[in-house]
Amino acid sequence: MKKICFINGSPKTGESCSLYMIDFITKRLEDHFKNYLIVNALSFLKHSNKESVFAEILSCDAIVVVFPLYVDSMPSHLLEMLENLDIYYRNHRINPFNPPCLYGLANCGFIEGHQNVNALKILRNYSSSAGFKWCGGLGLGGGEMIRSTKDQIPLQSKIALPIYQALCTLIESIKNLNAIEADTATLFANYNFPKWLFMFMANRFWITSAKSNGIAKKMMYVKPHIH
Ligand SMILES: Cc1cc2nc3c(=O)[nH]c(=O)nc-3n(C[C@H](O)[C@H](O)[C@H](O)COP(=O)(O)O)c2cc1C
Repeated sequence: MKKICFINGSPKTGESCSLYMIDFITKRLEDHFKNYLIVNALSFLKHSNKESVFAEILSCDAIVVVFPLYVDSMPSHLLEMLENLDIYYRNHRINPFNPPCLYGLANCGFIEGHQNVNALKILRNYSSSAGFKWCGGLGLGGGEMIRSTKDQIPLQSKIALPIYQALCTLIESIKNLNAIEADTATLFANYNFPKWLFMFMANRFWITSAKSNGIAKKMMYVKPHIH
């Protein structure tokens, strides 16, 4: 039976879009991968026996790196973990003729899934330099919205359909250990939702959130270091 590993790059301890995506995918892969492992990249850095975790990750047929977009790239703790995985893999050539398939699933705050393009290119370059089999990536936009409306807007609903369809394509590729069938093996998707309404709601969210932390809207525009 095939083995799969998810590396969760979100540093959030509670709910996150990354964890929601991992949950969605694992439920649909149960019949194909009886054995799956979820490694949280941030908790991993404090793990006392990192080598045993690396050995387990590298014994998998597929590795799916699921992460939030941070400044057009990956969060630093995820980069650190991937760098160390690369070093371990170079020193312990496990299965060199049949390397694990590597997939990426990025989500970002802006509504356009395409914002994840550079982060997925970084992961693709990492994959080829480390010697994994790059099988492509999916970039999702509006990650905060996907997570916070998961009970009101299920992934199969009309608004979320582009995301649902892209996830199904990724899942099919993982099932067959194939590269994603798309241009440069990369897909992008976001909600069928007007951008102006998304911006309006996002701006309101920040203002309400600041207010509940005792910060008035006007204070958010203060530039104390500019004279
Ligand atoms: C430090 C930091 C940097 C971020 N950089 C970007 C960015 O460059 N572009 C973007 O669209 N979203 C950016 N975001 C938003 C996150 O990608 C977004 O909130 C994402 O949905 C979080 O995913 P998670 O719930 O899986 O952690 C950033 C968030 C943080 C905290």
